[in-house]
Amino acid sequence: MAWKHLRRFLQGLFVFACLSFPCQARYGGLRGAALRLHKVHDVGGAGVEEQWFTQRLDHFDGAETRVWKQRFFVNDTFYRSGGPVFLMIGGEGPANPAWMQYGTWLTYAKKLGALCFMLEHRFYGKSRPTEDLSFASLRYLSSRQALADLAHFHSSMAAARGLTGSKWVTFGGSYPGSLAAWFRLKYPHLVHASVATSAPVHAVVNFPEYLEVVRQSLAAENPECPLLVQEASDTLYRRLQDPETYVNITKDFSLCADLQIQTKMDIPYFLETVAGNFMDVVQYNEDNREFEGVPGTNVTIKVLCGVMMDASLGTPYSRYAAVTSLMLKTFSQKCLDVSYSTYLKDMSNTSWSGPAAGGGRQWVYQTCTEFGFYQSTDSPNQPFTGFPLQYFLQQCQDMYDASLNATAIADAVTQTNEFYGGYDVHATRIVFPNGSIDPWHALGITQDISDDLPAVFIKGTAHCANMYPARQQDLPQLALARDHVFVLLQKWLQQ
Ligand SMILES: *[C@@H]1O[C@H](CO)[C@@H](O)[C@H](O)[C@H]1NC(C)=O
Ligand SMILES: *[C@@H]1O[C@H](CO)[C@@H](O)[C@H](O)[C@H]1NC(C)=O
Ligand SMILES: *[C@@H]1O[C@H](CO)[C@@H](O)[C@H](O)[C@H]1NC(C)=O
Ligand SMILES: *[C@@H]1O[C@H](CO)[C@@H](O)[C@H](O)[C@H]1NC(C)=O
Ligand SMILES: *[C@@H]1O[C@H](CO)[C@@H](O)[C@H](O)[C@H]1NC(C)=O
Ligand SMILES: *[C@@H]1O[C@H](CO)[C@@H](O)[C@H](O)[C@H]1NC(C)=O
Repeated sequence: MAWKHLRRFLQGLFVFACLSFPCQARYGGLRGAALRLHKVHDVGGAGVEEQWFTQRLDHFDGAETRVWKQRFFVNDTFYRSGGPVFLMIGGEGPANPAWMQYGTWLTYAKKLGALCFMLEHRFYGKSRPTEDLSFASLRYLSSRQALADLAHFHSSMAAARGLTGSKWVTFGGSYPGSLAAWFRLKYPHLVHASVATSAPVHAVVNFPEYLEVVRQSLAAENPECPLLVQEASDTLYRRLQDPETYVNITKDFSLCADLQIQTKMDIPYFLETVAGNFMDVVQYNEDNREFEGVPGTNVTIKVLCGVMMDASLGTPYSRYAAVTSLMLKTFSQKCLDVSYSTYLKDMSNTSWSGPAAGGGRQWVYQTCTEFGFYQSTDSPNQPFTGFPLQYFLQQCQDMYDASLNATAIADAVTQTNEFYGGYDVHATRIVFPNGSIDPWHALGITQDISDDLPAVFIKGTAHCANMYPARQQDLPQLALARDHVFVLLQKWLQQ
């Protein structure tokens, strides 16, 4: 979940449902994130008891006997004997206990008399299978191991709590959305149905389509907006080639230190950081609202495009810089850190108390060894400049091991699609809700595959919107989508 940009904590309350790239660096990154997470726990976590479950370190090696403790949460408030069991699948960040008290799945649970569990993903939050996050330890981090954790959790809980005859339904958003689909696909005898929200089921090394959707989402606000972004981004790229401009750039973008270009990674890192303002806001548009006293942000696509269109702020380049100032102010940060070496140092720290242990180091490892998903500028149909695929591939080697070169990453992604089937989902009773402005829908199931594998398209919503608690000002189609998923669950539970 989001590191490399705020793409996780931007989202405010629900750190659960957001897939993205690591990076605590931006806006003071981790400090901001830690603060927000802390607030989240103050809100949602209160009174939710942590429980622990013994898992094997390696489900696929019979000779490996080491075990560890996995964290989970339970809400049995709504459970009626004979009702279904709901399992919320944890993802690429700490499992947020707020989900045990808020969220659309609980309204379904109430109506259907469901027992609710949430299992934290191995290597995230407090679920720590190894003593550190070294490259050697991370070999036990994979979606396949995570699914085997879920299977073992299911069997043990079913036996312990007399739930073997119950119908289990899994939920997840973003990467856990994919896991929800794959759990049903790979373990159909354990899972009756799944709700796979905003799930990128197709792995791909290079994912410039993400930025194409960002362009479309900005254009839907105003067709001029992505054109101005493009002009600004091109200007910044050009100026970065000329060291004489660095004094001005340092000032314009409120950089934490005088701009210095030391390696070939520095310029792409800077350009990606600034583009990240738009990526974050588009991905979580309108999701970051105030909730239960935790302040959200008011920064939406409309607000960013408003700045880009505001001629009183000067050239498009100046307006682009003004967007950065706005984001810094929104997150109470003094300056923008664009140092790749600082980022690399943070991401390379293998300690559980290190600056990227909240999920950044682990998630990028999963992109390098399973999914790719690199949001590069390698498409003419998107507005940003200067962070090509090579820049992302290099990070795998910089952060983990020289063996993670382009060939290894491409092979890993191919294997992921061979194993899960990519878009070619052969299963039943999985629903795929899909938000039209969410850049991740480009890798999701966006059309019904069959009656038993429906997509639910939600026009005008961003990442995982249907999972959040309903609120007054929700779009009517979002409310309808929630109802639609409920009707499907009701139908499937009778089968
Ligand atoms: C279960 O969820 C309901 C609805 O939000 C909440 O009132 C209750 O406190 C929760 N129970 C536990 C044990 O978290
Ligand atoms: C830096 O900004 C000042 C003021 O806007 C401008 O006069 C100057 O030409 C700029 N310097 C460079 C190298 O672009
Ligand atoms: C967001 O906007 C509302 C209404 O315009 C305002 O009351 C609130 O203070 C704003 N919140 C932030 C964090 O700016
Ligand atoms: C890793 O992070 C921890 C906690 O911030 C710090 O104490 C330690 O020195 C860091 N390790 C390295 C190698 O930088
Ligand atoms: C990647 O590394 C492997 C060995 O680890 C090597 O055989 C292969 O040629 C390398 N590929 C590239 C593109 O460097
Ligand atoms: C999902 O979103 C895409 C993009 O807006 C849209 O083209 C597609 O029709 C949607 N899927 C469904 C099933 O409506």
